[in-house]
Amino acid sequence: MSDQVLYRETHRPQFHFSAQKNWINDPNGLVYYEGEYHLFFQHNPESVVWNNMTWGHAVSADLVHWKQLEHALLPDELGTIFSGSAVVDWHNTSGLQEGDEPPLVALYTSAGAHAPDPVPFTQSLAYSNDRGRTWTKYADNPVLGHIEGANRDPKIVWHDATDQWLMALYLDGSRYVLYGSPNLLQWNHLCDLDLPGVSECPDLFELPVDGNPADTRWVYWGASGGYLLGHFEGAVYVPETEVLHAEQGHNGYAAQTWSDVPTDDGRRLQISWMRGGKYPAMPFNQQMSFPVELTLRSTPKGIRLCRTPVREIELLHGKAYYEAEVALTPDAPFAPDVGELLDLRFDLLPEDAEVFTVRIRGIDLRYEAAKRRLSFLDASAEIEICEGRIPLHILVDRTSLELFAHDGEISMSCCFLPEAAEHVLSFHAHGGSARLDDLRVHELDSAWS
Ligand code: FRU
Repeated sequence: MSDQVLYRETHRPQFHFSAQKNWINDPNGLVYYEGEYHLFFQHNPESVVWNNMTWGHAVSADLVHWKQLEHALLPDELGTIFSGSAVVDWHNTSGLQEGDEPPLVALYTSAGAHAPDPVPFTQSLAYSNDRGRTWTKYADNPVLGHIEGANRDPKIVWHDATDQWLMALYLDGSRYVLYGSPNLLQWNHLCDLDLPGVSECPDLFELPVDGNPADTRWVYWGASGGYLLGHFEGAVYVPETEVLHAEQGHNGYAAQTWSDVPTDDGRRLQISWMRGGKYPAMPFNQQMSFPVELTLRSTPKGIRLCRTPVREIELLHGKAYYEAEVALTPDAPFAPDVGELLDLRFDLLPEDAEVFTVRIRGIDLRYEAAKRRLSFLDASAEIEICEGRIPLHILVDRTSLELFAHDGEISMSCCFLPEAAEHVLSFHAHGGSARLDDLRVHELDSAWS
């Protein structure tokens, strides 16, 4: 088969979303409705580099198998279409419903600086009455005028307790803001926020701590994975932490969570852009992360946001390998015979090894005992050892590695281009011995087959 067949190209991610062709960046408009997860995305329909921002569109029934649809929103005289979000307007607060089903409503940034006659950046609305297949821009756009700088990236959430829509919006520098609205059309200022060191693409959502619905925090999130934990009663967001960091890799950016995931599912689901990946000579450029579930957990350092791959990864599980225990010494590495797409889980017991490595397609994931540090290429994270072990979960696609340690307390999104290697996967202990417990390796099928 030719390596240029769609979704079979040399560097095509096999279980991560990428567009059929051309450039993508931020996930946008994530909303679940009637059995479909919608994934809109920043997209240049014309070339493999960033420009002409448009919302591309894909849907999935399971977060794993995606079908790309027609582009949803194209540039107009107010600007190109920058990032934003979408919701189901269940009670037709906007009055935009036609027919029996509630409309899907999207709020996005009109990037006025990129209009044919440049104007300031503003926030606009579009709606769909056919399950997201076609979109109409609101006649009186913009619905929120220019505030400052290149203000952008509205994320909408319904606040049940006060019967209002909330809009988290990025302003400029590290400044963010919250607006409220009864109808998605008129917006009033609620409060300002600062997330030092963080910019772009806010998200805002409430999560229980340790699964206890009586003890919740509101997460205010920015593009790099910097987030605040705080309280919100309907008017002012009150942070109770400094900026914390949920992303230790260099390639996770502009993550957004899905709106309207059914309550009987109840998960807070997130996907990010894997910014900075290289796809030489490919007809497409950039990929999304694998979707993760977010939870808040008490840790010795305080409450932290944890990210773990969604259980739907199991839909792709192929051949499985299991070893209850693998003893590693400098003379005895372990190299199971596996394919290139992997879901890899094990507990690392570093014992007295100075360094432990997992060689993945010629590139080392390293653990250094002296520094208690995990690293892959130029990304690294400090890591705790609990009862002598580090539980690890690693997803390997053709050009990316996502690492989750301690059930997602540490997460690193990494892009790479593979090196020629004798084995796809091998484990090594250096300067002492180490052990792997409960090693479960699943080969993964392609999501495009
Ligand atoms: C983040 C971002 C957003 C903006 C979009 C433009 O990656 O810069 O702030 O809306 O990308 O494509």
